[in-house]
Amino acid sequence: MARVEVKGISKDYAGGVRAVKNANFTVEDQEFVVLVGPSGCGKTTTLRMIAGLEEISEGELYIDGELMNNIPSKDRNIAMVFQNYALYPHMTVYDNMAFGLHMRKVEKPEIYRRVHEAARILDIEPYLHRNPNALSGGQRQRVAVGRAIVRNPKVFLFDEPLSNLDAKLRVQMRAELSDLHLRLDATMIYVTHDQVEAMTMANKIVVMKDGKIQQTGNPLELYDYPANKFVAGFIGSPPMNFLTVKVIEKNGKLMLNGVSFELAPAPEHLESLKKYLGKEVLFGIRPEDLVFAKRPQPENNIGVKITVVEPLGSEIHLWLTTTTQPLLAKVQHRYKFRVGDMLNFVPYMNKARYFDKESEWSLLENDGMPAVEAIQTAAQAAR
Ligand SMILES: Nc1ncnc2c1ncn2[C@@H]1O[C@H](COP(=O)(O)OP(=O)(O)OP(=O)(O)O)[C@@H](O)[C@H]1O
Ligand SMILES: [Mg+2]
Repeated sequence: MARVEVKGISKDYAGGVRAVKNANFTVEDQEFVVLVGPSGCGKTTTLRMIAGLEEISEGELYIDGELMNNIPSKDRNIAMVFQNYALYPHMTVYDNMAFGLHMRKVEKPEIYRRVHEAARILDIEPYLHRNPNALSGGQRQRVAVGRAIVRNPKVFLFDEPLSNLDAKLRVQMRAELSDLHLRLDATMIYVTHDQVEAMTMANKIVVMKDGKIQQTGNPLELYDYPANKFVAGFIGSPPMNFLTVKVIEKNGKLMLNGVSFELAPAPEHLESLKKYLGKEVLFGIRPEDLVFAKRPQPENNIGVKITVVEPLGSEIHLWLTTTTQPLLAKVQHRYKFRVGDMLNFVPYMNKARYFDKESEWSLLENDGMPAVEAIQTAAQAAR
């Protein structure tokens, strides 16, 4: 069993830097939780406080219900894998993996057993007698993970362990770590600035920005019901489009005016939008939720001009402009799109998200989706 509870944790560094502000999240036993966010948002600091490498300025950390704030790192039964792997260059792979166990005075035969078992799991047995500098980046990364596995910790912590690998190897190691998580039944907390890693590996994602948690949820919850513009733009690639529209009333109906286009909101969004009558809001739509139409459509038509065409093979990304606002669409068809062409797109209005222009938090409250309730609670807490 290993359940990690982070309760209202903050970190103040000397010099008045508040790197983490009132962070709250729970990592359930055997869960794979990913902390994701841009550089400097406080991911490493959060992880280091959990590991006991950094003092907690405020708040409480519990592992299996036991308060950890004053427990030294070595007694927390946690293993951390660092971005640079931190391997000892003059020791063999075997000794690198065995070192921590020697320090803990584990018996030699037991060390032998654990190192070989971890090496077998990670497929690095042939390299046990080499030095790390005679290994590829991916192999070194596995040794660093192996060193964590032999300790049989309650919780694994990973700080951007794949960032030194090339793109292809990263994809492979990503799958290997997910597989390892299942085989070890381990509780893992993983830090990355790469939203694709977060989406593909996590059971639960914690999105951070400027030291503050923005939203916590499973990958598709965050994708479908982002709590604010930041999460909406950060999760998903290419990112969600944001168009400024004015909420107006026309012939007794609530409409969205975008100067060169007019949209009728989906029925489930009307209630939330009513409060913004006469005001501007941000209309958020994902690139794949813009449907290409060969001719202008009578309803919800957005006329655009192509500025850039990116053919990716499986799909085409079109950079567009409504003349006043840019947007990006993802299309599957292989039409001959050319820069300067005028096209028409119709958004799936039920997939649209709406954000308050000032606070940038989602303004959808009553569209009946259970996840939205959770988002609003999280949004309120983070405000
Ligand atoms: N020892 C320190 N003293 C003072 N400020 C620090 C210290 N360590 C980190 N910081 C500051 O705290 C903030 C959060 O840093 P942190 O390393 O947690 O970010 P991160 O999310 O891990 O970023 P990255 O993706 O670049 O690794 C940053 O503004 C950083 O400059
Ligand atoms: Mg970091």
